Amino acid sequence: MAIMKQPFFSLLLLLVVLCYSTTTSAQSPAAAPAPSPSSAPTDIIRILKKAQGFTTLIRLLKTSQVANQIDSQLLNSNSGLTFFAPSDSAFQSLKAGFLNSLNDQQKNELIQFHMLPSFVATTNFDTLSNPVRTQAGADPDRLALNITGSGNQVNLTTGIVNATVGGTVYTDNQLAVYQVDKVLIPRDIVVPKPPAPAPAPAKTKTSKKKSADTAASPADDDSAAMTLKQRMWVPVGVAAIAALAVSL
Ligand SMILES: *[C@@H]1O[C@H](CO)[C@@H](O)[C@H](O)[C@H]1NC(C)=O
Ligand SMILES: *[C@@H]1O[C@H](CO)[C@@H](O)[C@H](O)[C@H]1NC(C)=O
Ligand SMILES: *[C@@H]1O[C@H](CO)[C@@H](O)[C@H](O)[C@H]1NC(C)=O
Repeated sequence: MAIMKQPFFSLLLLLVVLCYSTTTSAQSPAAAPAPSPSSAPTDIIRILKKAQGFTTLIRLLKTSQVANQIDSQLLNSNSGLTFFAPSDSAFQSLKAGFLNSLNDQQKNELIQFHMLPSFVATTNFDTLSNPVRTQAGADPDRLALNITGSGNQVNLTTGIVNATVGGTVYTDNQLAVYQVDKVLIPRDIVVPKPPAPAPAPAKTKTSKKKSADTAASPADDDSAAMTLKQRMWVPVGVAAIAALAVSL
């Protein structure tokens, strides 16, 4: 018995040490290499600040998070982006209280409506077919944007607003920013939507409850934690049983 005890304890010690080292090494994440961009990424806020006269637009881009979206879109797409930037005087010519009357979703739509999901040079506006698709969506009635002319004279109309391009703020063959003298308001924001059919109230309630139940997933975390703990103790248990068998 006394002879058996010593190898048993050294075996147990070895297993415990092994078990401990694997769990700690699993917990320390592999060091991710720091991203090293070859050139500074485009920063729409910096561009507009430098150009001056876009304080309202900058505030809207920041509060709506669309500034971040634009920057990451430029990093991830090859087709580029065209942005019609309304000047501060364009915002000042809006009906008083108009911006404040919009909810967050409408503000987001308003900004997306000022963007085309591709780079368009000033000389190429006449190659677009009307209505032009903006990032707000493709609805040819409620989200129409017509662009006519090219070069020195570019006109835009939404059916609500007529605007003209006042000049190029920035261009780098991937991003084009053009100043516009009016905020481009799509019909979708000012023309009331046709009433949507009333939803069945009972169905909505049950589905809501169901989705809330499925959304709650702490059970998943619990089971994952349990499995990890169980895994940790399995070798120890095996060692104990083996040692017991040997000592008997
Ligand atoms: C742009 O609109 C103005 C009127 O606002 C008009 O005189 C001009 O001809 C239009 N230009 C083009 C290219 O449509
Ligand atoms: C935009 O252009 C299309 C096609 O030419 C036309 O059918 C539509 O009426 C125009 N919309 C506006 C608001 O000018
Ligand atoms: C926009 O211009 C068209 C003609 O090009 C005109 O019929 C329309 O009334 C104008 N709309 C506004 C809001 O100025």
